[in-house]
Amino acid sequence: MSTFSIAAATAVFDLVRDDLAAIESEFEIQSRSPVEVVTDIARYLIAGGGKRIRPLLLLLSAKALGCESEARIRLGAVVEMLHTATLVHDDIIDEASTRRGRPSSNTAWGNAKCVLAGDWLYMQSFQTALAERNFRILDLLISLTQEMVEGELLQMQKLGHLINEEEYFDLIYRKTAFLFKVSMQLGAAIAKAPDSLDEALGEYGRNLGLAFQIVDDVLDLTADETVLGKPVASDLREGKATLAVIHALERGTGAEREAIRTVLADRSFTRVSHAEILAILKNYGSLDYAMDTACAYAEAARLSIAALPDSDAKRALLWVPGYVTSRDH
Ligand code: IPE
Ligand code: IPE
Ligand code: MG
Ligand code: MG
Repeated sequence: MSTFSIAAATAVFDLVRDDLAAIESEFEIQSRSPVEVVTDIARYLIAGGGKRIRPLLLLLSAKALGCESEARIRLGAVVEMLHTATLVHDDIIDEASTRRGRPSSNTAWGNAKCVLAGDWLYMQSFQTALAERNFRILDLLISLTQEMVEGELLQMQKLGHLINEEEYFDLIYRKTAFLFKVSMQLGAAIAKAPDSLDEALGEYGRNLGLAFQIVDDVLDLTADETVLGKPVASDLREGKATLAVIHALERGTGAEREAIRTVLADRSFTRVSHAEILAILKNYGSLDYAMDTACAYAEAARLSIAALPDSDAKRALLWVPGYVTSRDH
């Protein structure tokens, strides 16, 4: 990271430090259940850390509209709880063994308990949101949950198959970008923003969320597991064709296409190695293509909020897309 971006990151963090700490304690309070195993799993998940990017977005969205209501803390905890619940379920579905640099919850407690703990967290996040007595908030959260579940189910149907870019973007919009969009719109909802700003902030979240998942998918192909904190090369092993792979599939020779198809169908690198796939992707500039696409969405996110009045929070929102596209975990 350049000195400039370290200075910018510090400025952004200074702006929301106290609020993020308050969200952390709200999450902790909301995760207490009379049934010990639920509390244990929730505490383990909270302690695992994570970037907390969704509450950050909610806070910046509310702040950019001048809203200092306590609801921002509760709803910040709501989006992080919801995100945490989806990770618990996602790791069961993907049979992932690590998350945030340690054993995933399904590895530590087993699938059965984690499905239920994930459900509990989901419902606790709705319970917390319900306290706002605001139908717009419930509407956003209910459509969000349905989109995310539909996204995971569509993805499952397409495992092992070749998909095109349109299908890929539809999937990542539902499974990831929708929550980014809703995090921004919840900020707008508590600030009672006019429709035009709600739309602009939502559009920012959608564009940023697409960039975020494209980068996640590139990191899955290129990152180091110890830095990433979760399994690498797992998408291909799960039969998932992501943007760089789709790009290479549309350009490769018959043999190269066959090599990619083999990994997706086998869901393993036994017949074709990870290195061979990476060589094909590099040959066609497919990883660069995916990163360029992520950067274009990051720029689109910045442009989406052009009409927002200038403020520290707006400047922070203009910084976040660069953070998303340059992250290494
Ligand atoms: C992981 O999200 C799931 C995706 C949408 C790719 P994050 O990368 O935000 O996970 P944490 O919370 O920082 O661990
Ligand atoms: C993100 O997809 C799914 C969620 C919305 C939870 P991934 O399956 O790529 O997420 P990671 O890579 O396991 O974090
Ligand atoms: Mg996963
Ligand atoms: Mg991933």
